[in-house]
Amino acid sequence: MAPRELPRVRPLFGAEEIAARIEGLAGEIAAELPRDVLVVIILKGGFVFAADLIRAFHRAGMRPQIDFITLASYGEGAESSGQVAIKRGLGDDVHGRDVLLVDDILETGRTVAAARRLLLERGARSVKLCVLLDKPGKRKGASEADFCGFTVPDRFVVGYGLDYAHFFRDLPYIGTIEEGTGNHRG
Ligand code: IMP
Ligand code: MG
Repeated sequence: MAPRELPRVRPLFGAEEIAARIEGLAGEIAAELPRDVLVVIILKGGFVFAADLIRAFHRAGMRPQIDFITLASYGEGAESSGQVAIKRGLGDDVHGRDVLLVDDILETGRTVAAARRLLLERGARSVKLCVLLDKPGKRKGASEADFCGFTVPDRFVVGYGLDYAHFFRDLPYIGTIEEGTGNHRG
């Protein structure tokens, strides 16, 4: 077996650009949502973005509570399976709460639709959606973001929490995978 080589990544948004956009997003959200909103972070991909976003919320005067939900729609590769599995559910009581769902990227919209459904079933009063990236090219159906950091082209992006076969979540920037590079196959 050939040694594992990861594909090359072409930078799209740098760390400073991401940080500046998040500061702006936090201001937009603070102006619209209640100060004590319940932030529900979709794992795994949302964790890096959310960690920076909630600290920007603090600087913008918000005092949110935080919960997590683990959903999976991708297997090992770069193709969505189309099925969204709930791997770990909500810890907190969401009944009557105003919720802000946070995810890394909105693609087909299925992941967020599943999370939104669950929250409304549990009695959330309102559910808004914030994503760092919007990839509108593959949208299937109704879920749109209320707050969005950047729009990206219809390419597989990695870094800053987004993975390819569980690699690249650690990259401090966001980039696109260069086709035909690397030999990693799950
Ligand atoms: P959706 O359910 O098709 O909207 O896909 C959203 C989920 O798929 C996100 O939570 C991501 O984890 C993952 N995803 C979608 N596009 C990409 C991508 O380009 N890179 C990495 N993960 C992605
Ligand atoms: Mg994800």
